[in-house]
Amino acid sequence: MSVLITGGTGYIGSHTCVELLSAGHDVVVMDNLSNSTDKVLDGIEAITGKRPAFVKADCCDANAMEQVFDSHPDISAVIHFAASKAVGESQEIPLHYYRNNLVSLLNLLDAMLRHQVHQLVFSSSCTVYGEAEKQPVTEQTPVQAATSPYGNTKQICEEIIADAVKAHPALKAVALRYFNPIGAHQSGLIGELPMNPPQNLVPRLCLAASGKTGPLQVFGDDYDTPDGSCIRDYIHVSDLSRAHIAAIDYLKTQSNPKQNFEIFNIGTGKGCSVLELIRTFGAVNKTEVPHKIVGRRAGDIPVIWADTRYAQQKLGWSAQISIEDSLRSAWLWQMNCNKNNTK
Ligand code: NAD
Ligand code: WQD
Repeated sequence: MSVLITGGTGYIGSHTCVELLSAGHDVVVMDNLSNSTDKVLDGIEAITGKRPAFVKADCCDANAMEQVFDSHPDISAVIHFAASKAVGESQEIPLHYYRNNLVSLLNLLDAMLRHQVHQLVFSSSCTVYGEAEKQPVTEQTPVQAATSPYGNTKQICEEIIADAVKAHPALKAVALRYFNPIGAHQSGLIGELPMNPPQNLVPRLCLAASGKTGPLQVFGDDYDTPDGSCIRDYIHVSDLSRAHIAAIDYLKTQSNPKQNFEIFNIGTGKGCSVLELIRTFGAVNKTEVPHKIVGRRAGDIPVIWADTRYAQQKLGWSAQISIEDSLRSAWLWQMNCNKNNTK
């Protein structure tokens, strides 16, 4: 039996391929390479000794989607990563975001139902919580009106899945609301390799520390937090990836029709401020992080971290990798990229 991974050559998808292959699953990757390259497959093979089947195709192409299922009749579950994910860009080209993220999911659900594949894990985001009244956020924390088209696509996708499982009782789904994934595989052979300049904190910090950009800009030190900088829940990408294996295992055993769609927070359960993260990165990697405080970034929420007890209880999963090791792995990956001149 195979697991189909859409977006499988991307950052989180590639790490999840490694975890799935290492756990003995067969893997089929479908990716249009809009934000990744097929060289990632070499890294996955170097780590696991196995190469996933790869289909270069767009999830928005319904025929291509159909063909993937036709030519891989052993697919029994799907992890759907494929999406456009840059919050700022989604404000500039909202229609692309709605089309790519929604049409991909609709095509996938149609094909799954036609081929009687009934297990789906969907990549959602903590962005759905917006600025919550209470921390940490639980899965019951109310979802707030989205502040970006990207965030809105995640909310709409969750709603589409909820309606689909209601109408098709055989269908079972899990949405994982990721907090802030960071770091790279401990081997240093795969990591985040976006096509455009990164927007997230840790890749930007790595570029600043390796002198490839100017100093890291710290967006605000006047928030109502202990050191004035924003607080997030940074989770190592391999820990996050292993949550998908737990979700697949959970779906296999799930037989309560009232719980055919479950949502889980996937974070560490600990908050870390931007300034704390910069200090820890400098200390564990014995390197300077040139940085300067600048004004707040529009749309940033001051504080968010996850209550992860539900995932622990139901999936038997919790994050294991420390922030120190996560930041070591991020630096190892950056140094490998510097050596190979890839980032
Ligand atoms: P990524 O851009 O590295 O990976 C996404 C992959 O999907 C890329 O390889 C891209 O080429 C592919 N893709 C995009 N549109 C496609 C399409 N129409 N057809 C086929 N392939 C397509 O992003 P990531 O960080 O690995 O994120 C994976 C998922 O997790 C996304 O759904 C994202 O929204 C979600 N997520 C990411 C974060 C984060 O901080 N990285 C946080 C929360 C949720
Ligand atoms: C983290 C902290 C910034 C860059 C985004 C999306 C969210 C999810 C994860 C997909 C913030 C600060 C950042 C920099 C900085 N993605 N920062 N200087 O904003 O928590 O979430 O990615 O679902 O939807 O919104 O992540 O890494 O951009 O920022 O000071 O150069 O780092 O202000 O406090 P964020 P991030």
